Amino acid sequence: MKMTILIAAIAISGLWSAPVDAQPRTNYTSSTAASRKVPLSLQNKLNEQFKEELTSAYYYFAVSNYFEEQGLEGCMKWFEKQAKEEMDHAMKVYTFMQRRDIPIAFPSLEGPRVNFSSPFEAFKQGLEKEEVLSGKIREIYSTAQKMDEYEIATFLNFFLEEQVEEEDLFRTIVKKFDLVPNGDGVAILIIDQQLGQR
Ligand SMILES: [Fe+2]
Ligand SMILES: [Fe+2]
Repeated sequence: MKMTILIAAIAISGLWSAPVDAQPRTNYTSSTAASRKVPLSLQNKLNEQFKEELTSAYYYFAVSNYFEEQGLEGCMKWFEKQAKEEMDHAMKVYTFMQRRDIPIAFPSLEGPRVNFSSPFEAFKQGLEKEEVLSGKIREIYSTAQKMDEYEIATFLNFFLEEQVEEEDLFRTIVKKFDLVPNGDGVAILIIDQQLGQR
């Protein structure tokens, strides 16, 4: 109580005034990464990558469903897991964009292909999609470096490494199915069982 009276007395006497820092900062500027605006071309490219990761997830769900219809549970689970990974990738891009104040455009996604002629074809298409995406990520990385956007380039390191891993994974499976003579059911079932252990 006595302290309150003392503070009130000091304030009235003019000896105390509010600290300058308590005032709202209206002209605060900084050159840190968080406040620098990402160039528009890179904003667009990251938006594109966000969409690509979601499109991949959508596509892999469709492939997983195709295998469910074929009774190949191992392949079904393999692609389900792949779809989840792509959703994780999309989430990573989404979170990074929010942190770097990049507006997210939320474009519509194209419907995925739902039918394939064989497991070989389904995996081969997956491999081709991964190769295209790797190329796009390399392009964003190169642009980020040219524009001195080191934080974006560093962020993309994860994706560059991930693409090497994914391409290798797909390529190995494509090679296995390529060895299957004329749709040999037993051989397909053996590979399916292996893939279910992912
Ligand atoms: Fe991905
Ligand atoms: Fe992928």
